Amino acid sequence: MSRIDSAINIDDLKRMAKRRLPKIMFDFIEGGAEDEVGLRTNANAFRDLRLVPRYYIDTAKREQKATLFGRTYASPFGIAPTGMAGAFRKDAELYLAQAAQEADVPYLMSGASNASMEQGAKLAGKNLWFQIYGAKNRSFQLDLVKRAIDLGLTTIAVTCDVPVSSNRERNRRNGFVRPLRMTLPTILEAMLHPAWVINYYRSGGLPMLGNWERYGEKNATPDQVADLFAKQTPDPSQVWGDIEAIRNAFPGKLLLKGVMHPEDARIATGMGVDGLIVSNHGGRQLDMMPSPLDMLPMIRAAVGPDVPLLLDSGVRRGSDIVAALCMGADFVMTGRATLYGATAGGLEGVKKAVSILQREIDLVMGQLGAVNLAALGPQYLLETVRAEEERRNTGAMVGRR
Ligand SMILES: Cc1cc2nc3c(=O)[nH]c(=O)nc-3n(C[C@H](O)[C@H](O)[C@H](O)COP(=O)(O)O)c2cc1C
Repeated sequence: MSRIDSAINIDDLKRMAKRRLPKIMFDFIEGGAEDEVGLRTNANAFRDLRLVPRYYIDTAKREQKATLFGRTYASPFGIAPTGMAGAFRKDAELYLAQAAQEADVPYLMSGASNASMEQGAKLAGKNLWFQIYGAKNRSFQLDLVKRAIDLGLTTIAVTCDVPVSSNRERNRRNGFVRPLRMTLPTILEAMLHPAWVINYYRSGGLPMLGNWERYGEKNATPDQVADLFAKQTPDPSQVWGDIEAIRNAFPGKLLLKGVMHPEDARIATGMGVDGLIVSNHGGRQLDMMPSPLDMLPMIRAAVGPDVPLLLDSGVRRGSDIVAALCMGADFVMTGRATLYGATAGGLEGVKKAVSILQREIDLVMGQLGAVNLAALGPQYLLETVRAEEERRNTGAMVGRR
């Protein structure tokens, strides 16, 4: 049995990733903004949710296929964009792409990834989606859209929740700034993780931002390309007109990632955005944001039943995915959960993370009495059951009077 095989849950993969990475790198994955209230908010939103099962429903044959934008995937979740994944393990994005293809789930590749979308598409084919950050020079974002069209990508996402950088204090304390400020304690700590150190320096140190390489000077180094990227993003001057321009430029499905306010949801869908990823960026941006799970019912009410709503932030269990679907999400995305897998064990690690979540979804569906995703809904939520029972009991009281 390989080391990865021994992982029983996502938390095991997290521990393996943590063991492999120097603190400065693991903290970059794990950390949130400021007091990291957002991280706890996300975890608690799932922990506080209660599902009430029904029994004596034939669930011998269960399936978790999910259809989104007319395409059926093997499971109701996909892989969220995580920038610079190649720094945690060389070629991490290629492993994420290949695993997504093999498992038949979508992989939304980050615009700040080390592998390029062209490399990703070779491995993931139609399972590759691409994420874009707005850039000060609009020609970059529109060129990224054009490249996605040229590759035949069906779906892109624009991330709206990074108007400015956030205050991630773990990174500042650790010296996770470019060029990496290697203090003596950082170096000594890194020596305790020789596999990562060897892998990182053998592959040339800081990996290239693959999607931005061509926008740098000829033969630009990874550092120079990263400088260009940092000058261009985040761009606080992006406005709805920029989304409109991308909408007009891209004929496929356009997602807006990070929508939290119902009014923003209305504006986006009003201008032809096809779906929303309700997300607080995994607690990495505004620390005081509510959890996406808390906002989901309001956003659903704002956009109506037909707009696909995806959700991420805090998903670590199949039951979290099932709960999000019961709350009204159509699809769920995993950020750290699959990244732990890629970091801990490359391709095998991502496949393990995906299979853990799939197995957990299957068992939770069996426990609830749901044979497929269409059978999931608010009727399983404790608050719905309670409200329904109260309504009945009040009706009975009125009847008796
Ligand atoms: C290391 C890391 C890098 C990320 N990079 C990006 C990115 O480049 N673009 C983006 O839209 N979101 C990015 N995110 C946010 C994720 O797409 C996703 O919203 C978040 O991880 C979900 O929360 P979870 O990690 O609790 O699942 C990143 C998250 C992490 C952990």
